[in-house]
Amino acid sequence: MKKLLSFLSACVFVISTAPVSASEGVQLMHIETNLKDKATLQEGAKIFVNYCLNCHSAEYMRFSRLGKDLGLTDTQLKENLMFATQKVGEPLHTAMSKEDAVRWFGVVPPDLSVVARSRGTDWLYTYFMSFYKDESRPWGVNNLAFKDVGMPHVLWELQGGVAEPQYKTEMGADGHEHKIIEKLVVPKGDLSDEAYRQKQKEYQHAVANLVSFLEYMGEPAKLQRYDLGAKVLVFLFIFLLISYLLKKEFWKDVE
Ligand code: HEC
Repeated sequence: MKKLLSFLSACVFVISTAPVSASEGVQLMHIETNLKDKATLQEGAKIFVNYCLNCHSAEYMRFSRLGKDLGLTDTQLKENLMFATQKVGEPLHTAMSKEDAVRWFGVVPPDLSVVARSRGTDWLYTYFMSFYKDESRPWGVNNLAFKDVGMPHVLWELQGGVAEPQYKTEMGADGHEHKIIEKLVVPKGDLSDEAYRQKQKEYQHAVANLVSFLEYMGEPAKLQRYDLGAKVLVFLFIFLLISYLLKKEFWKDVE
C-alpha cells in the first residue's frame, strides 16, 4: 500500500511539475486562437512560409491540403505561399540541409508540424513575445520561455525592434539579492506614442495569426470537426422539430 501511495504521489509530482519545466518558470501569456477564420489562418500561413520555412520543415503538411483547408486555389497558393520550384503536392519542406543547420545553429531546427501540440499555443505565443537582447548569445538574443535558445529572433522587424530587459532586484531565499528580469520593452525609437502602440498591437496580432496557423497544422482535422459540428447541430434541431410535431400529432387523438 505504502509503495502504491508513493508511486501515485510520484506520478502527481511529475504531472504537476511538467508544465513548469516546459516553460522554464516563465509566466505564460494566454492567447485565444481562431481556427474558424480563414483570413487568420491565411495570414499565419504567409508568416510561416516567409519567416520559418527557411530553417524549419512541416513535413506532415502538403501545400495542396493547405490550399484546400484555407480556401486557396492552386494559383493563389503559387502566388502567395510557394517558391517557383515547389510543387502543389509537396510537403512544406525546408531548403536548408541538416549539415548546414548543424554548422550554423549547432542543432537541426525541429519540424514544426505538431509543435502546437507538444508546446501548447500559450507557450508558442509567449515564446514569440519573449525574445530579448542578450549580447552574450550567438545571435544576440535570448528568450524568457526558452533559456539560451539557439534560434535568432526572426520576427524582430515585425516587432519593431528587439526588446530590452528591465531588471529589478529581489531578495532570494538564500538571503542574497538577485537581479531578475522584470519586463521586456521594445525600444520606442522615434515613433509617436500612438504609432508605437499600434506597432505592438500589430505584432501581437501577427503572432496570434501565426500561432493559430501552427495549431491548425498540428491537427488539420479540427477544421472539419467544426464544420461537422455545425451540421450535426442543424440536423439535431430539425430532428427535434420533427419529433415534436410527430408527438403532437400522435397525442392529439389520445388527449
Ligand atoms: C534561421 C533559422 C530559423 C528560423 C528562420 C526559424 N527558426 Fe525556429 N528554431 C531554429 C533553431 C536552430 C531552433 C532550435 C533552438 C534550440 O534548440 O536551441 C528553433 C526552435 C524553434 C522552436 C522551439 C521548438 C521546441 O519545441 O523546442 C519553435 C517553436 C520555433 N523554432 C518556431 C519557429 C517559427 C514559428 C519560425 C517562424 C516565425 C521559426 N522558428 C523560424 C531556427 C530557426
